[in-house]
Amino acid sequence: MKRSEINAIIRDADNFLKQQRFYLPPFSYWTPDEWTTKGEEVREIVDRRLGWDITDFGQGDYEKIGLFVFTVRNGGPENLKTGAGKTYCEKVLVVDVDQITPLHFHWLKTEDIINRGGGNLIVQLYNASPDEGLLDTDVTVRMDGVAVTVKAGGTVTLTPGESITLEPYCYHKFWGAESRVLVGEVSKVNDDNTDNRFYEPVGRFPAIEEDEAPLHLLVNDYERYYNTAK
Ligand SMILES: [Fe+2]
Repeated sequence: MKRSEINAIIRDADNFLKQQRFYLPPFSYWTPDEWTTKGEEVREIVDRRLGWDITDFGQGDYEKIGLFVFTVRNGGPENLKTGAGKTYCEKVLVVDVDQITPLHFHWLKTEDIINRGGGNLIVQLYNASPDEGLLDTDVTVRMDGVAVTVKAGGTVTLTPGESITLEPYCYHKFWGAESRVLVGEVSKVNDDNTDNRFYEPVGRFPAIEEDEAPLHLLVNDYERYYNTAK
């Protein structure tokens, strides 16, 4: 993705979030220059990869296959091991009409995907086989505490206020309908480097062509700008 495209997506999503009355934390708006002055006090943001995370899944067509993510809070593997501290994660997603997040499941993470406003969110579901293929068995999920069963490859529609709980080994693919959707994700601690099993090979993070300066840093940019030696 070009940096200019990422900057435009950030501006646009930030406006949408404000329209929806969802406000991001202060570190969202630090500039790259400000990041170079930060020290050990912001270690949690860097290590837990909090912040802007925009991806075209390596497919080069963000509007068709892409996702806007902002990770608001997240713990680490030590929290899962001990059961203490931040064992949870919260993200906010922006999903456009017919903009696909490709079919995937998580080995460890159980997540609630929540329609927090805007249009509808369509979620397609399959059970994964032990060898991570697609089963043709019915899929039972819980939607706001109510068990719902669909055929393999069937879809459920989340209208504003509705949510779905996705357990490990439940394949899911989603996209927006009617209009842009503000989506919340509340889950177990999340590591996007290790806990995404995509059915078809895609990249979780985009390669970036630096055609202008970053407006704000993506989580993958921290390494280049953040230096605790200062
Ligand atoms: Fe997921």
